[in-house]
Amino acid sequence: MSVGIYFATTTGKTEDIADRLHELLANANSPKDLADISEASELLSHDGIICGIPTWNTGADTERSGTAWDSLLEEIGNLNLNGKKVAIFGLGDSSTYTENFCDAMEELHSYFVKAGATMVGYVDKGDYTFEESKSLIGNKFCGLPLDEDGESDLTDDRLTNWANQLKVEIAGL
Ligand SMILES: Cc1cc2nc3c(=O)[nH]c(=O)nc-3n(C[C@H](O)[C@H](O)[C@H](O)COP(=O)(O)O)c2cc1C
Repeated sequence: MSVGIYFATTTGKTEDIADRLHELLANANSPKDLADISEASELLSHDGIICGIPTWNTGADTERSGTAWDSLLEEIGNLNLNGKKVAIFGLGDSSTYTENFCDAMEELHSYFVKAGATMVGYVDKGDYTFEESKSLIGNKFCGLPLDEDGESDLTDDRLTNWANQLKVEIAGL
């Protein structure tokens, strides 16, 4: 079993979380910066894929991340990821950008769904304070939202709980 961790970042917070998650998931591969990946087909080499994505393009319908993920979305959607487990974590700011909290997770999620991946790592919204997020599907976020700007004191617990959830949901972790 191979589980890859991929992230993109502008100010380094998503990379830091990817490293912290890797410490909790000893069986996953070392995190890779998406900016160093030339083709989305690299993702096919894994049985499980964990993706870290921040939101920078506030309110945008497309290219919400503002990072290297945006230019790989179409390619990801055209892959055949049947049988692969995919989980997403998002970085955002739930107070300053409370109407667009971690919006980019859902855009990435939709392309992985198009590729036939089995999405895991959904998180209940109950632990968060925000107005709106495109990443909500019913009462659940389609991944793990993290707020290192205003709620960094909650990140350790959120990340540890999520890592334990992924160990159940992704075989081999
Ligand atoms: C100009 C600007 C726009 C942002 N827009 C959003 C947003 O729409 N939604 C959100 O949740 N966070 C938003 N953020 C917060 C960032 O996503 C957050 O700081 C994140 O941790 C950055 O991750 P990075 O360091 O990996 O790039 C924005 C921050 C800035 C400075």
